[in-house]
Amino acid sequence: PVVKREDYAAPAFLVDSVDLCFDLDPAKTRVLNKMWLRRNPAVAAQPLRLDGEELNLARVLVNGEGSSFKLDGNQLVLEKLPEGDQPFELEIFTTCAPAKNSKLMGLYVSQGTFFTQCEAEGFRRITYFLDRPDVMASYSVTLRADKAAYPVLLSNGNLVEQGELDDGRHFAKWVDPHKKPCYLFALVAGQLVSREQRITSRSGGQHLLQVYVRPGDLDKTEHAMNSLMASIAWDEARFGLPLDLERFMIVATSDFNMGAMENKGLNIFNTKYVLANPATATDTDYAGIESVVGHEYFHNWTGNRVTCRDWFQLSLKEGLTVFRDQEFSMDMAGSASARAVKRIEDVRVLRSAQFPEDAGPMSHPVRPDQYAEINNFYTVTIYEKGAEVVRMQQTLVGREGFARGMKLYFERHDGQAVTCDDFAQAIADANPDSELARQLPQFKRWYSQAGTPRLHASGSYDAQMRRYTLTLGQSCPATAGQPAKEAFVIPVALGLLDAQGRELPDSARTVVLSETSQTVVFDDVDAEPVPSILRGFSAPVVLEFDYSDAQLLTLLAHDSDAFNRWEAGQRLALRCALAAVQSPAAVHQPLDAAYLDAMRAILRAPGLDSAFKELVLTLPGETYIAEQLDLVDPQRIHAVREAMREQLAHALHDDWVQAFEANHDNGAFRPDPVSSGRRALAGLALTMLCLAARENGNPVWPGKALQRFKDAGNMTDRVSALGALVGSGSALAAQALERFHALFKGEELVLDKWFALQAGAPDRGGNILPQVKQLLSHPDFHLRNPNRARSLIFSYCNANPGAFHRADAAGYLFWSERVLEIDAFNPQVAARLARALDRWSKLAEPYRHAAREAIARVAAKPDLSNDVREVVTRALAD
Ligand code: ARG
Ligand code: ZN
Repeated sequence: PVVKREDYAAPAFLVDSVDLCFDLDPAKTRVLNKMWLRRNPAVAAQPLRLDGEELNLARVLVNGEGSSFKLDGNQLVLEKLPEGDQPFELEIFTTCAPAKNSKLMGLYVSQGTFFTQCEAEGFRRITYFLDRPDVMASYSVTLRADKAAYPVLLSNGNLVEQGELDDGRHFAKWVDPHKKPCYLFALVAGQLVSREQRITSRSGGQHLLQVYVRPGDLDKTEHAMNSLMASIAWDEARFGLPLDLERFMIVATSDFNMGAMENKGLNIFNTKYVLANPATATDTDYAGIESVVGHEYFHNWTGNRVTCRDWFQLSLKEGLTVFRDQEFSMDMAGSASARAVKRIEDVRVLRSAQFPEDAGPMSHPVRPDQYAEINNFYTVTIYEKGAEVVRMQQTLVGREGFARGMKLYFERHDGQAVTCDDFAQAIADANPDSELARQLPQFKRWYSQAGTPRLHASGSYDAQMRRYTLTLGQSCPATAGQPAKEAFVIPVALGLLDAQGRELPDSARTVVLSETSQTVVFDDVDAEPVPSILRGFSAPVVLEFDYSDAQLLTLLAHDSDAFNRWEAGQRLALRCALAAVQSPAAVHQPLDAAYLDAMRAILRAPGLDSAFKELVLTLPGETYIAEQLDLVDPQRIHAVREAMREQLAHALHDDWVQAFEANHDNGAFRPDPVSSGRRALAGLALTMLCLAARENGNPVWPGKALQRFKDAGNMTDRVSALGALVGSGSALAAQALERFHALFKGEELVLDKWFALQAGAPDRGGNILPQVKQLLSHPDFHLRNPNRARSLIFSYCNANPGAFHRADAAGYLFWSERVLEIDAFNPQVAARLARALDRWSKLAEPYRHAAREAIARVAAKPDLSNDVREVVTRALAD
């Protein structure tokens, strides 16, 4: 059942208003849905087809009278409706079973509380409806439930009425002042408490902000509330977009398929992105909360006020909103160095997850042309590459020009369901003299063509003419269904350095490459310069330039662009890694002296922030290294990277000691960029020192790590010390793990870390898989809780290639069993796991054959979900 973008047709009926009444009961919830509909005058008359899934239908009334209907698969079809354009009332009465809803789509129960998740197509699991984003309606919602079990009753908008009912039940009525597509509907009912904050916005509006959590978790809500207040202030300051609601609520749940959901006025979050205090959450968790709270809040305009015409346009809201949350985090970070650190982190995600996706069987354009299951397209391509496509538009029109474009976008489209074309058009129209406006049709190939473009650059220096010529070219590999690609519009930020690392005056510029090849000429150049190309990662491409080691060392030491400094270090390390992986000899010491000296210099440099040092000193990941190769031996890559880490640990031993001493003490915990950077570098130093101790047998550093683990005043230090012990295979690891478990028995999110740490530990002699299997039957392991399943199973299959890719294929067998097991109750989570073997066709033997067999084993199951079916079918076609 493939859905195609080209088949889009406007809805035959429009829904003006929806009045929902819920009698909440976990076993059998009754839903009365009264709608006012009318025929869409722009579409030829036809029957009304409403979507519904796993519903029990009891009654259908049209204008108060019984009406004939039929069921066609998952659709309720009404053929004899009033003719003409007049509105009519349709009343549908259904029941559903929230307690049995293990897919976590629609209305479900988590730990005794009701939650909903409707995006993308979950509303049809609540009632029959035109479940598509271009049908926008006004909602009023009445919730009725037992008062003792469900004291808090929430839905979108404003609370207009509440009161008591018979039999210990009560009710609440909510009215949403804004029209919305049904995927933004939400309700919550249960025993919850809230942190509240009243604010006055810069435009004078009064608002009530609430963060709802389970009783006992209130002490973990301060950071989420602060992040929400900061998001509101930022959107108003940067884009002039105010909060348009009297009340804005965030509710946390432990059972959630994804990160969070932007339901209008009632965001529902995975607890992972709400709950934090210094004892239980790491710096990474704090940063994740800030960015996800921002992300969902920013959807209030980009997604909710202006939404998507159809799900092929998903990146219209997701790419744009990720771009906005990235900018928000950068502005919050403050210093230029902290901004660069955020940029490097974002690019690392893009290159280690999106580039492989773009080169694999699930590759798709930012605006896909077809899908079998829309839930499979909430991808790094739609989100992260989509954000890069928006970022390039900002680069092409400038920051102010982009804000102008956003203004025009809302002037034109507020209250509408629109397309990616509409967005780009608004940005271009607001900047008629820009390069974007001049080349808009070609620029939009970023939306339609999949695959990661290659940017080929080469330089030639003419000493006589004192002229340096940089030639830029582009190509893009074929992807499934797109054998030939046309040229992209690629903004290339660049500058030239002299051999001493000084920037040549006036050499910095942004070149817009739109041809297959273009040259850039620099005059009055005294000697062959070092080009710093693709500064700030100005486009989501692979830069190919034949840098000498000396040039990379110059960039690493001196470039004014912090991103390219980091990138030069990564290129040097990657070179050593690839040479070692490809050499027939045994892996011994992959890193050369020049690289080690350069790393030492970075570690010692007084003017660099700790956070930046930590990024530079972190080697490229195994997946990133694998992406550079046509034939991948995961064991070989793992061995090489481990050898590199050990070499770095030994060669820089005394500097690691220095770095630890200088960064380990940070006083009271504050999650700001400077102190989190210091903790990150101290953590890396400790990891390195424990790794070095593994070889030299000196127990001092493992002993210190254990002590630090025990005394830690915050989770970041505690978990990094524990990680240092586990990662180095220290004999002290077991007791530390045991103690960690005992300390945090009741803390779900901390137990997730405990499982993840063990499943993600470096494999030594095949010990990880047996350990993972054993943990499956640990009393704290709950397969049906997505966070817990991810912490154990995904950490092993997706994040630990050295342990997962076993010559005996046992890792793949384990994977196929878990995919099938999870698919039986939660297809969305199963389909994510199914993607762990996306890149099977690049594997060397014996892995390749075994991986294909494992995928075929999954595909052979007759009653697979649509979700998993699509993933494995595409994988086998690769
Ligand atoms: N719109 C949400 C976000 O990006 C993601 C919801 C995805 N849910 C799903 N079932 N695919 O914030
Ligand atoms: Zn989003």
